[in-house]
Amino acid sequence: MQKLAIQGGNPLHGEVRISGAKNAALPIMCASLLTAETLRLTNLPDLHDVGTMRKLLQQMGVGAETAAGEITFNGGKIDNWEAPYDMVKTMRAAILVLGPLVARFGDAKVSLPGGCAIGSRPVDLHIKGLQAMGAEIAIEHGYIHAKAKRLKGARIFFDIVSVTGTENLMMAATLADGVTVLENAAREPEVVDLANCLRAMGAKISGDGTDTVTVTGVEKLHGATHHIMPDRIESGTFLVAAAATGGSITLRETRADILETVLEKLTEAGAKIKVEGDAIHLEMKGRPKAVNVRTAPHPAFPTDMQAQFMALNCIAEGSAMVVETIFENRFMHVQELRRLGAQIDVEGNTSVVKGVDHLEGATVMATDLRASACLVIAGLVAKGETVIDRIYHLDRGYEHIEAKLGQLGANIRRLK
Ligand code: EPZ
Repeated sequence: MQKLAIQGGNPLHGEVRISGAKNAALPIMCASLLTAETLRLTNLPDLHDVGTMRKLLQQMGVGAETAAGEITFNGGKIDNWEAPYDMVKTMRAAILVLGPLVARFGDAKVSLPGGCAIGSRPVDLHIKGLQAMGAEIAIEHGYIHAKAKRLKGARIFFDIVSVTGTENLMMAATLADGVTVLENAAREPEVVDLANCLRAMGAKISGDGTDTVTVTGVEKLHGATHHIMPDRIESGTFLVAAAATGGSITLRETRADILETVLEKLTEAGAKIKVEGDAIHLEMKGRPKAVNVRTAPHPAFPTDMQAQFMALNCIAEGSAMVVETIFENRFMHVQELRRLGAQIDVEGNTSVVKGVDHLEGATVMATDLRASACLVIAGLVAKGETVIDRIYHLDRGYEHIEAKLGQLGANIRRLK
């Protein structure tokens, strides 16, 4: 089990390049199942989950030629329509092969993703949507078996906003017979990036980025080249780390329009932020002020930034409320932060964080991807050494994080 050792106290300074977005790359890789032609993806992040998704597609027969930061897929020789448990259990996003497989081949066998640390994370909305489009679905021995002669367009209402639910059904609808309307759809920028890629492949989609997405099915999709959008959560994570350490950094190859609520909250905490083209500059002088956050679907404050802001609030001036409305168990970082001296009370989905003037380094354990990022930020500001265990969670979502933080002046090293 690899660990990270961090000596806290260094303000972050300098420039860092933001990688392609994990949560755009994963659904877009699955779009390769929708065509017999070549789909070339550039600006792919070098992440464990991207490698897992590539292997999953390859074992289905999708060709995948990799080069630095890019993969060229070809769905011309797919001969296996199954996503096995041993691959799905390590990466829930594997559920995103379901819609494309049923749409193109009329047959799919996908393992039910187990729950995960942050919650039960059912996929009932994905299944209900495909049934509304005419798929016959049986759940047997932990697998979703879906069959359809040809999916039919339908009007589908999401009673809970679901990002991958919207993405799965949007992909399925591209090859369905007729028009599909997704209501109460997710508005995340990654949904829009997927829609842009699907349109480049010949899909007819409108309304992506709003709560109503309309897809007119076509007979088939052709190949395309698509550049993956920048990772807004990686961007937000580095900005919070710079704010917490009282530093001054510049992010390159990112976008500010996909991070508005996060930039607003950082400004409220006292950071000076300047946006210039694809660069965001942040400077924090002195101690940050505590800021309340309440997570909700985009364009509201993103749940994937909740843990990072909790770390900021731990050493901020004043107290703050952190409310998590998306997942039922996304406060596992609280116990670990307390080990570093944080003062946090939890009541249901609400945490109250009372800022302390410093944290003390300790050994802590990562429990999920964004909780790991929170502990890295806490380690960067704590006095002394913090050792973070189980950092494989971190490697799933952050490309070369210790190299990037080291470039910014952090004293951080990976322990084998
Ligand atoms: C996506 O997960 C992201 N993952 C998550 O990022 C992110 O936290 C989440 O959206 C919310 O923004 C990817 O895009 C690969 P949901 P997803 O379906 O799609 C409930 C990270 O750190 N729900 O939007 O799985 C669900 O339980 C990860 O990068 C149902 O009840 O999330 C949750 O409470 C973590 N039934 C809520 O909806 C369903 O069929 C939102 O889940 C689907 C979801």
